[in-house]
Amino acid sequence: MTHPLEQLRDDALDEIESALDEQALEAVRVKYLGKSGSVSGWGERIKTLSKDEKPVVGKLLNQVRTVVTAAIEARVASFREQEESAALARIDISLPGTPHEIGTLHPLTQMWERSIEIFRRMGFALADGPDIEDEWHCFDALNTPPEHPARNEQDTFYLPDGRLLRTHTSTVQIRTMQAAPPPIRVIAPGAAYRRDELDATHSPQFHQIEGLYVDENVSVADLKGALEFFMRELFGSATQVQFRPHFFPFTEPSLEVYVKSKALKGGERWIEVAGSGVVHPAVFEQVNNVRGDKAYDPEKWSGYAFGLGMDRLAMILFDIPDIRLFAQNDLRFLRQFA
Ligand code: PHE
Repeated sequence: MTHPLEQLRDDALDEIESALDEQALEAVRVKYLGKSGSVSGWGERIKTLSKDEKPVVGKLLNQVRTVVTAAIEARVASFREQEESAALARIDISLPGTPHEIGTLHPLTQMWERSIEIFRRMGFALADGPDIEDEWHCFDALNTPPEHPARNEQDTFYLPDGRLLRTHTSTVQIRTMQAAPPPIRVIAPGAAYRRDELDATHSPQFHQIEGLYVDENVSVADLKGALEFFMRELFGSATQVQFRPHFFPFTEPSLEVYVKSKALKGGERWIEVAGSGVVHPAVFEQVNNVRGDKAYDPEKWSGYAFGLGMDRLAMILFDIPDIRLFAQNDLRFLRQFA
């Protein structure tokens, strides 16, 4: 004779077998194994049975529960498997794969890397400073008085708290000398910011490499030699370099640097690429003041500094007609420098 529990088990197994999806299966589970399901109901009923019957039916109940639970789990697993293979079947493995896009270095980055490599060979180390600066590092320490036009709000981006976006990387000259005594031989690549109208040759954000060399007996001749070497390494040995007198508050004498090279497009024209000069003694004095020592004694130490316009150099080297291209992120432009 079949016990009603066995009948219940067979019914459950039939229903599990014929459930068409996980939802239907869940309904079956609730019907039999849920809190008020029929298998669970037997748990209550057992309490009313006689001492002899209890262990027999109890054992049977446990078996039924185990078998039904296992059957449900197996059915769930087979549903999941079906789903997965259906999903895989939708993938056409004969289609070509998605190629990995390999990026390229931005032309300005390439320009920086080339330049840094040349200066490294000349013994320059890398230095760094923040883009957000205080007025002292950007102007006062660089012998630029409060009434100087560069400090004007028309030229400089000021933050509400009085700090500013550095207008040149010369700030790093000061930070480097603050941090260490001479001799110093560093370059500092970085961005600078001015309130220029955006056009083909001007951008409110541009890029420089600052250079600073402080030692005993550093002269204009050293400055010229270093920059001439740099320009010829960069643009070729036929490159001509010209120094024209200029004014910067933080150098004396001050020189603008021009290059001309037949090897370059539009090569018969002098193009300005840098500001430079011999470090003004007043700059050393400012540094000594914050350092609280006489490490940069202008009687003992001298130096030169320069600021190379990276955007300009890259435009010449790669024959790029418009500075705005550097920031527009147009892949058709960027891919040309792969
Ligand atoms: N800071 C100057 C500029 O941005 C360039 C410069 C750097 C000039 C170092 C002299 C010495 O125009």
